[in-house]
Amino acid sequence: MTDNKIKIALLGTGIYSESDYLPSLVHESQTHIVVKIVWSLDQTAAARFAGHFKSSGRSEPQVAVGDAGIEQILNDSEIDAVVIVLPFAFQPPLMKRFWAAGKHVLSEKPIERDVKAGLELIKEFGDHWKPKNLIWRVAEDYDHEPIHKRAAELLRDPALGPVLYWDLQNQNYCPDGDKWQATSWRNVPDYQGGFCLDGGVHSVAMLRNILPDPPAAVIASASLHRKHTPPHDTILALVLPDSAATKEPSGSSSKLDIARQHRPNLPQPGKSSPAGTLTFTWALPNIESQLPRDLQVLNITCLNGKLTLVNDSGTRTLELAPAAGSQVEAVKETSPKKGVEVELAYFARAVLATKAGRAIDPAEDYGKPIDTVWDVAVIQAMLQSNGNKVDIKQLIDQYR
Ligand SMILES: NC(=O)c1ccc[n+]([C@@H]2O[C@H](COP(=O)([O-])OP(=O)(O)OC[C@H]3O[C@@H](n4cnc5c(N)ncnc54)[C@H](O)[C@@H]3O)[C@@H](O)[C@H]2O)c1
Repeated sequence: MTDNKIKIALLGTGIYSESDYLPSLVHESQTHIVVKIVWSLDQTAAARFAGHFKSSGRSEPQVAVGDAGIEQILNDSEIDAVVIVLPFAFQPPLMKRFWAAGKHVLSEKPIERDVKAGLELIKEFGDHWKPKNLIWRVAEDYDHEPIHKRAAELLRDPALGPVLYWDLQNQNYCPDGDKWQATSWRNVPDYQGGFCLDGGVHSVAMLRNILPDPPAAVIASASLHRKHTPPHDTILALVLPDSAATKEPSGSSSKLDIARQHRPNLPQPGKSSPAGTLTFTWALPNIESQLPRDLQVLNITCLNGKLTLVNDSGTRTLELAPAAGSQVEAVKETSPKKGVEVELAYFARAVLATKAGRAIDPAEDYGKPIDTVWDVAVIQAMLQSNGNKVDIKQLIDQYR
């Protein structure tokens, strides 16, 4: 092993590990990671993964299976870190064993099933393993997606002016037997929200990364429209920013309202509050004429233009449409999704820095567990709201 590489074990050979981790780990840009072991419950799948590394020109990993395989990884002093891509509820007990064995951990989202469990896991890590210089990151690819950083940067251009309002649509067609829904742990979920948690945390992480004033409170309604996607398959919400984000309206009073100003009893003018609306659903009907169906669309309307981000499975498109006469420049950028590739590289460099006694680059410090608890908190707040206002910070603080 050279100084700029870490050795890892990859745990999990399911749908997502195959579709996103495997290509990212064999990609030519992945120069810091050697996969020494592939672990699975399924020997055949692990052997298939190992073969794929070999045929891609990488060294062929060992195959480890079941609990004996976990012991093998725990006892392998060459393994610096584990990358865990398992059903999220099975991850924490394993993570604790790996921390105790001195392994750094990158674990798939969501961090846990609810805010309480997420905070408990963070406390355990903070009390026992962080002081031993172990790194734990949550693999939230939307936290690492370069085009989300770019959207955030564009929104901070003073020429664009403040955000007025936004809306986020995450609408999915999910027939009974869909490949994701057919996984045992999604088919009959024992955690709040079902797909609204599993898929919704990404959208919330995107808002957290992009909006200048992220959500502070929600008023929401959660439903189950189709029996095969319990416990909830749809959330509609009004999302409110912190009260400090509410400002006086922009511009000056109309030059035509001179007469009105002198009339008594005019209604009190409103303020400008950058609130948003959000729709999450896995209950979309199968409308062939309206393909593609699994789009996420975020529209952010600003004083002098409108930013639109479309996530169409493998592709991200960012567009900034300027208002006529403004100083805002039009932008249209398209990028393949890169979140997993970037998060693996950042994680590997953080482990390398820690091993060398160097500080971790703050520009690459994403997937922070506490941020991903916040993502879960927003979903939990929307599921619990039932039409009432729920404050996100208060919800988190009640479990601290
Ligand atoms: N970032 C994203 O966009 C994204 C997308 C999909 C899934 N994910 C995450 O990836 C993880 C895996 O999801 P998936 O869709 O690939 O699931 P999956 O069910 O296809 O794969 C999970 C793997 O875990 C194994 N497994 C099942 N039960 C197990 C148990 N009790 N103990 C150990 N292993 C077990 C399965 O054999 C399989 O190899 C989840 O945490 C999910 O939230 C993330």
